[in-house]
Amino acid sequence: MLSRLVVRASRAAAARPPRTATRAIPPAAARPRRRLLSTTPHRLAPATTAPRAGPRLVEASNPVKGITVQLPGGSTTSFSYVWLRDHCREERSYHPATRQRLVDTPKIPADYRPDAVRSDERGIYVTWPNSSFESTYESFFPWSFLAEHAYNPPVVRQADLPSANSSKVFWTREIAHDMPTVTYDEVMSTEKGVYEWLKRINTFGFSLCSGIPGTPEATEALIRRIAFIRDTHYGGFWDFTANLEHGDLAYSEVRLEAHTDTTYFTDPCGLQLFHLLSPSSSHKGGHNLLVDGFRAASLLEATNPAAHALLSTVPVPSHASGSGSASLPSGVHLRPLVRVPVLNYDEHGELVMVRWNGDDRGVVGGEAFEGAKMDEWYEALRAWEGILRSDEAQLWSQMEVGTAVIFDNLRVLHGRSAFTGERRLCGAYVNGDDYRSRLRGLERQFGGHGGGDARRAALDGVLRERFGILRRGEGKGTVWEDYL
Ligand SMILES: [Fe+2]
Repeated sequence: MLSRLVVRASRAAAARPPRTATRAIPPAAARPRRRLLSTTPHRLAPATTAPRAGPRLVEASNPVKGITVQLPGGSTTSFSYVWLRDHCREERSYHPATRQRLVDTPKIPADYRPDAVRSDERGIYVTWPNSSFESTYESFFPWSFLAEHAYNPPVVRQADLPSANSSKVFWTREIAHDMPTVTYDEVMSTEKGVYEWLKRINTFGFSLCSGIPGTPEATEALIRRIAFIRDTHYGGFWDFTANLEHGDLAYSEVRLEAHTDTTYFTDPCGLQLFHLLSPSSSHKGGHNLLVDGFRAASLLEATNPAAHALLSTVPVPSHASGSGSASLPSGVHLRPLVRVPVLNYDEHGELVMVRWNGDDRGVVGGEAFEGAKMDEWYEALRAWEGILRSDEAQLWSQMEVGTAVIFDNLRVLHGRSAFTGERRLCGAYVNGDDYRSRLRGLERQFGGHGGGDARRAALDGVLRERFGILRRGEGKGTVWEDYL
């Protein structure tokens, strides 16, 4: 299949008379195996040494600015020379250890042209000229990299790949019969144990961890297996009983409906872990509530599209404004830089964040809620809360010493029943980006082909089956490893 890949330097086309697509195609046995086409703007290869198997050359839309690649099946796509120079991964342009760009992109001349472009079964080689910009050297681009990042047009569409949420399992209270769980010993003793823990969090939005020594020190060490702890106005690692030291109802004894935490941050906390340190006999009530927000959003979309549309688009204000404490006498005055809706989708239509806390919600009003929209928004709120508070959605459990619960605060809402007596909890937040970075790293370490990433594996499959392109050592841990 790779023998049918054709690369064409567009400038060459501009310098030559128009070609026809009827040139003789050499028999397969006569085709060179490695170099399919060597094309230079100034030293064009004779037509007889430039095999054209199957697909014809396509005239580039802007023939002096880039190359056109033709893939098996007839797809063609173009890359500008500026794009190619910008994405060079040779050491002078890209640091192999830090994987940071070294080329000064705005200084690449807009009319930059290579001296030569050639291709073989691995990819494309571009020879840049001696110029005031740089001394001559050669860049290499694997076919897989070009196909993955093609833009004019893209050759792999988002619709060709599984949803980023396809690996997640939406759940109801029935999950109580088979709770995702790992043990403290496996997490503390091996990286594979951390991977198993994070896989469960990614799949279900939460996980238990059992067998923890009933101390704050052991709990903190457990959390730090994922990443460093996120410090907030509540502190870093918490170890607390009910009081209003932090000016927040979380530090009281009242019931808390299902909510996500830190809606008032521009970047809400990613993971939250709780571990009960006082025996259940020391208090009455205080059961823990979890609700799968991604399932709730999906159900709302299916049953009440209008409500779903409103909650996905209307920004909601939120704040933390508790009175000051001895350590922070000026008080807390937190607001996010950008108000966002309850349900937040990315540019591909994937749900990425539920942000909902009725207690921390600010004043709704103004242009965003103009006229009848306010009544519609309250109606949508009732529909949303109706799902969150349904019996089937709510997973209630009694916390116990030795078993911590950790959850993805952007997906799973949590709450608590009212309690009396002494209830000592410890725990912490972890940044979402740091959790996801750790998960990606462990996926690449333990996940096998595709790195445990379903979309990466699917992309490899599309490139292989549709275009015959295989990653040839340019995957894991190299400068060519990349993410969609
Ligand atoms: Fe909370």
